Amino acid sequence: MRQRLIVCNWKMHKTAAEAAVYLQQLSALVPRADPIEVVLAPPFTALHVVGQSSGHPFGLAAQDLFWDDTGPYTGEVSAPMLTALGCRYVILGHSERRQLFGEDDAGANKKVRAALRHGLRPILCVGESLSQRDRGDTENVVRGQLLRGLEGLSKEESRTVTIAYEPVWAIGTGRAASPEQITATHQTLRSTLANSWGSETGEQVRILYGGSVTPDNVSAFLASAEVDGALVGGACLDPHSLAKIVACAQSSQR
Ligand code: PGA
Repeated sequence: MRQRLIVCNWKMHKTAAEAAVYLQQLSALVPRADPIEVVLAPPFTALHVVGQSSGHPFGLAAQDLFWDDTGPYTGEVSAPMLTALGCRYVILGHSERRQLFGEDDAGANKKVRAALRHGLRPILCVGESLSQRDRGDTENVVRGQLLRGLEGLSKEESRTVTIAYEPVWAIGTGRAASPEQITATHQTLRSTLANSWGSETGEQVRILYGGSVTPDNVSAFLASAEVDGALVGGACLDPHSLAKIVACAQSSQR
């Protein structure tokens, strides 16, 4: 059985000092996360606050990385730098990286491989734009992003990956996808994983939904057997709101 996972993408919010206050508040509201896995993804500058503070049940993720380990890459951060801070996961191929910073599937693939080389678990984001959905292209788009993003992975490596289905039109818009749309796309992703990397990968990989997830709608998404958790942006910036999301995930545990 796949363990439920809630990943909190802070994006470019909170200084290190603000992160410390947030962590203290969240730890009081969510002293134990079991049986759910809760992972915080602060900006690079606040990773150490979460990574070096003990006594909380939250895992740590980075929001991106660069594929080489060291080198002349001004402004970039590598996988070994992230593991040294206690990161276990890294979000890759987020649509904001794709749209605003020109990232493509080939780059996401290099990043996925770099993460795996260093024992970091990639959370690969895929999702269609509104025009792609309106044209009926959703399945093709997410299947292509998945296959190119994970190209060259062995069966063993493929099982350590998490996929986040995040329709571009649902991110930060307050307009989440419907449980039916999510279920259909997750089925496409899972069958693609099984066809390309075998049935164990198809069964073991967690597929999260992301895009305007809130305490009010998360239970409806988690009611689908296809949804293994959520990638939450705006609604996780307030610890009270995140605590409610975690409570919903705990009470709807399968
Ligand atoms: P949102 O962001 O919850 O604010 O829509 C989700 C994401 O981009 O990961």
